[in-house]
Amino acid sequence: MELFIDTAEIEEIKSLNITGLIDGVTTNPSLIAQSGRNIIETIAEICSEVSGPVSAEVTATDFDTMIKEGKKLSAIAKNVAIKVPLTFDGLRACKAFSDDGIMVNVTLCFSAAQALLAAKAGATFISPFIGRLDDIGADGINLISEITEIYEIYGFDTKVLAASIRSVQDIVDVAKLGADVATIPPKFLKAMYNHPLTDKGLSDFLADWKKTGQSIL
Ligand code: G3P
Repeated sequence: MELFIDTAEIEEIKSLNITGLIDGVTTNPSLIAQSGRNIIETIAEICSEVSGPVSAEVTATDFDTMIKEGKKLSAIAKNVAIKVPLTFDGLRACKAFSDDGIMVNVTLCFSAAQALLAAKAGATFISPFIGRLDDIGADGINLISEITEIYEIYGFDTKVLAASIRSVQDIVDVAKLGADVATIPPKFLKAMYNHPLTDKGLSDFLADWKKTGQSIL
């Protein structure tokens, strides 16, 4: 499974990218707003840091302007994936971009029916928002299960990109269901590797090692 980082904060991306574990980045208008920076400059910087797909979202809601915005974002770097909302015009734009060989991430997906249309429109990624479904008492993980089942039956190439992740358990759950990608807020990468028994075990090993008086170097 690939791991993307869900942030527009370049310093955070750099600090995590040195692990070699980051396969891509997702941004959205809210994350760009939080960064307080210009979208074009920010996406350009992220693309020069991370070689995998970097999602940059259009903010227009009509087809013609979506295409203009998407072309401008796409011109920033080869690894930009144009993010479009799962609307009638967004699906049209997805089809147009994918026909031109441009990567597309269809976002704000909340149902399997929507995901089916995105795959038919040639989406590179479909982004089901797990946490926002859970927030309203629905079942976000079940949506991942439905989409992976449908995509498997028909052999769609569209990658399932689990978004709106709220916990490490969400990451484990979507991994078990075969999601191709999880996009995670930076803090969850740390939460994934941290374990109190790892810390205790290391502390015990080091205490015993000290008693030997040895040094490997
Ligand atoms: O990038 C889209 C998605 O991951 C947003 O998550 O936490 O705002 O629901 P959230």
